[in-house]
Amino acid sequence: MSKILITGAAGFIGSQLAYNLWKKGEEVTLLDDFSYGKEDNLMFDEIDFRDSIIKMDICDEIGIRKLFEEKKFDYVYHIAAITPLPDCQTKPRRAIEVNVAGTVNILEASRFYGVKNVIFSSTSAVYENNAVFPTKETDEVDPNLVYSSGKYMAELFCRNFVNTYHMNVTVLRFANVYGPHIDCLRTQPPVAGYLIREYFYDRAPILHSTGDQQRDFIYVDDLIDLAIRVMKNTGFDCVNVSSNTTHSINEMDRIIARLMKKEEIDSEHAEPAHFWVNYPDLYSGAYPISTEVLAAEVLKHTECDNTHAKDKFGWEPKVDFEEGLRRTVDFSVKKLTERDSK
Ligand SMILES: NC(=O)c1ccc[n+]([C@@H]2O[C@H](COP(=O)([O-])OP(=O)(O)OC[C@H]3O[C@@H](n4cnc5c(N)ncnc54)[C@H](O)[C@@H]3O)[C@@H](O)[C@H]2O)c1
Repeated sequence: MSKILITGAAGFIGSQLAYNLWKKGEEVTLLDDFSYGKEDNLMFDEIDFRDSIIKMDICDEIGIRKLFEEKKFDYVYHIAAITPLPDCQTKPRRAIEVNVAGTVNILEASRFYGVKNVIFSSTSAVYENNAVFPTKETDEVDPNLVYSSGKYMAELFCRNFVNTYHMNVTVLRFANVYGPHIDCLRTQPPVAGYLIREYFYDRAPILHSTGDQQRDFIYVDDLIDLAIRVMKNTGFDCVNVSSNTTHSINEMDRIIARLMKKEEIDSEHAEPAHFWVNYPDLYSGAYPISTEVLAAEVLKHTECDNTHAKDKFGWEPKVDFEEGLRRTVDFSVKKLTERDSK
């Protein structure tokens, strides 16, 4: 049995990772500051983590140090981050504080207290300006947005800690993740969560594009399978966590509409430049956001090579896209129904 810390454990991915590690008999410590996490994510059939989760900000230097000193973690899954892209863009200083400095805080505590491997959740968004597909971990990246630039900076610190201290750190670059517990209700939910919410309330979703852009989607259980396989990895490693197949937003839209029996509702189309219209700050000030950058973000193609994950860790994504969406819809509809009946 290993002692494992999961940061961001009240979020979509962290909560399910914690549950799966616990099911394997590991001693898990969950931590979250609840800035985006939800108590609802902590309740599983066999275990309820609500009373045991530690409420702490990963930027709290003293608190994190004390926790590491007391718990002597073997492994750390550093999942916490400010994840909605427009939130990072509108509050860049806080985004960098959490996503970069917070990561360094976790790396430093891991260094001092002898953690055997830190697994860091990065993102395929670092490839946002790449044009050769599928993107590989060894490709050069050059992101613009605050979220993706911050994740890339944090990756550099992961590598630098390995070089400087001979620690072990594995960077996982997640493609677009979907599955049960996806957030449907935040201001700018991930696309699957947004579509489910709009169909649930009989509204036509607004796609800020033709919907033809292709994305690499990975089902949350497949991601967790790989995340657990890399736990005892050594040295520095960077691994794409992707299906290496693509589906268009329109395809996802129509599957979700069909699964929810809302096929009669047609999604509407709008300008890519209006994508972050719920964040008026980005469109004001002396220098409003570049419409080209916003359009590039909306229309971007993602497709990540997963050969490294397969070859080194014997991993294979298993969940078919439609089956994954069916499970996501079933779970989310149940949760939305329960929420509305309270
Ligand atoms: N979901 C995706 O499609 C996707 C894709 C690529 C990468 N990722 C990365 O995976 C990780 C998990 O993503 P998710 O979708 O579960 O997001 P999420 O927003 O559901 O979870 C992130 C969690 O981190 C917590 N958190 C934020 N700031 C914190 C702080 N200062 N201290 C402690 N906790 C804090 C939040 O409260 C939240 O519970 C993130 O690092 C994200 O960048 C996600």
